[in-house]
Amino acid sequence: MSKTIAILTSGGDSPGMNAAIRAATIVAIAKGHRVLGVRHGYRGLLDGKIAPLDAEGVNGILREGGTILHSARSRRFHERASRDQAREVLTQHGVDGLIVIGGNGSLTGLTLLSNQDEAGDWPVRCIGIPASIDNDIALTGLAIGVDTAMNTIVEACDRIGDTASAHGRTFIIEVMGRESGYLAMTSAIASGANMVLFPEATRTEEELVNSVVKTILTMRERHPENHRVLAIKAEGVPTPTDRLKELVDAKLGQATGEEHEDIETRVTVLGHVVRGGRPSAFDRLLGSRFGNVAVRALLDGEHRKMVAWLPPMDLPEGAGTRSVADPYCYLIDLPMMLAATKRLLEGQSPLARWRTTAFDDLEDVFLL
Ligand code: F6P
Repeated sequence: MSKTIAILTSGGDSPGMNAAIRAATIVAIAKGHRVLGVRHGYRGLLDGKIAPLDAEGVNGILREGGTILHSARSRRFHERASRDQAREVLTQHGVDGLIVIGGNGSLTGLTLLSNQDEAGDWPVRCIGIPASIDNDIALTGLAIGVDTAMNTIVEACDRIGDTASAHGRTFIIEVMGRESGYLAMTSAIASGANMVLFPEATRTEEELVNSVVKTILTMRERHPENHRVLAIKAEGVPTPTDRLKELVDAKLGQATGEEHEDIETRVTVLGHVVRGGRPSAFDRLLGSRFGNVAVRALLDGEHRKMVAWLPPMDLPEGAGTRSVADPYCYLIDLPMMLAATKRLLEGQSPLARWRTTAFDDLEDVFLL
């Protein structure tokens, strides 16, 4: 029997969202079902911004960044009344299955929308697809957009590295990631940075300043001909980046006196540049495979699950099952994912605990 599947993107956009939209749409249509696109996230859902999506409508979007369905952050969805309204809108449009592509906030909204305590016998099946450049979603090895964001950061660091070497300067490069240090940590390695500052390390402001000054002075000693220092800083580190620069400059002045003149520091905040651009080949693949698995899961009657990308790992008991459509993908219970993500962001998960010390013995390696 032909079913109607609605797709929406929500929260911070991420490169590869369009690949997921496209795959879900063409797989559903190829199987004889109807697809509706919800524009502007949950806000658009509440406002009834829903229109059919067909193969023509998703043709050529695989390579496009952002999301053709647009996105939004909607506080209204935190209210029960708004969720009741959203369920009513979807029912009125004859929707049988809903796919939400987004990060923690969006998947929390989907978990609330599909909570039987308030939804009762509402029949719409709900599947989430993790999409966030922060990679701050638990129980999936990767979310859509992370690979592209890392490539964007590394490209920027390569460019900054050229001028930093030319002048023997220190650059503090701030990258996105909200509360997670993942992007900072991985792009520091991939770009050959000399240090990385990330919130999981929970350093005091003084410890942060001292570590940057120590890196600068060590690099000057070890590399007399090229004082270049790239320090990648996650935006979730509490000290504002400009303040960190000022404190580092002051500390350098105390430590080196008149010699301080030729130690120059600069700041580059990459900001939303990290979220844009054409998706990498991997994010197109990941988005496509997630979209495919999500549709097939809905058609198989799966509900309140998130599609996950998992290298072989020990999943908590009952947390999920391997997708029959794609052995690299799993279907993870949404409420268990949210509980695990809470532990991750509170630094209580094994992964979070590993991150706090992961770089402790790499400090010197970065200075070689
Ligand atoms: O969650 C993705 C993200 O890009 C974070 O890294 C960043 O802190 C946040 O979104 C920015 O949100 P907005 O686009 O609403 O300013």
